Amino acid sequence: VRLGVLVSGGGSNLQALLDACAREDFPAEVACVVSNVPTAYALERARAAGVPAVVVDHKAHASKAAFEAAILEALGATGVQWVCLAGFMRLLSADFLGRFAGRVLNVHPSLLPSFPGLHAQRQALERGVKVAGCTVHFVDAGTDTGPIIGQAAVPVLPDDDEKSLSARILVEEHRLYPLAVRLAVTGQVTLDGVRTRVAAAPS
Ligand code: GRF
Repeated sequence: VRLGVLVSGGGSNLQALLDACAREDFPAEVACVVSNVPTAYALERARAAGVPAVVVDHKAHASKAAFEAAILEALGATGVQWVCLAGFMRLLSADFLGRFAGRVLNVHPSLLPSFPGLHAQRQALERGVKVAGCTVHFVDAGTDTGPIIGQAAVPVLPDDDEKSLSARILVEEHRLYPLAVRLAVTGQVTLDGVRTRVAAAPS
């Protein structure tokens, strides 16, 4: 299965997917990486892995539709079948998502539905939760609102700050995302409304 990975930043989740795809037994390969940020380090990670890396700068397009059309062109040119958002900081339209008929995944650094949107780790600290974590979910037109495929929890420690908590969650993101991608692309995740039934829940 050919994956397209959309990025905006450092790309540590992209790296986790690249590493997983490099293993013989993993049922997917990263066919293309698209960044909306020209300087994203994630692009270096793609190049180092020999994966086509394309910049589609949202600032260089007159409209969201044109921006998304450029992304779709890059994904289409490389035969992408599933899209993984990995630190991608733009909202995608229902039209874009419809092109992939629900085959778009995202990783978010909170236990959704708590703390959607930006700075999720900071939101968790400010709310004083004792357990935080990450979620991999199908992407719908909302912000971090799609059906949940898997989650991983981490403790919030008394002396945690945004940096230490984010680092602890990131370790779990890197473990969870490839697991969830494997289940999704092999058809082991079925949808029942907003609930997913997963053959072997990635815990
Ligand atoms: C991660 O916490 C991810 O969940 C969030 O952005 C952070 C950085 O991701 N969306 P990456 O290192 O660019 O993959």
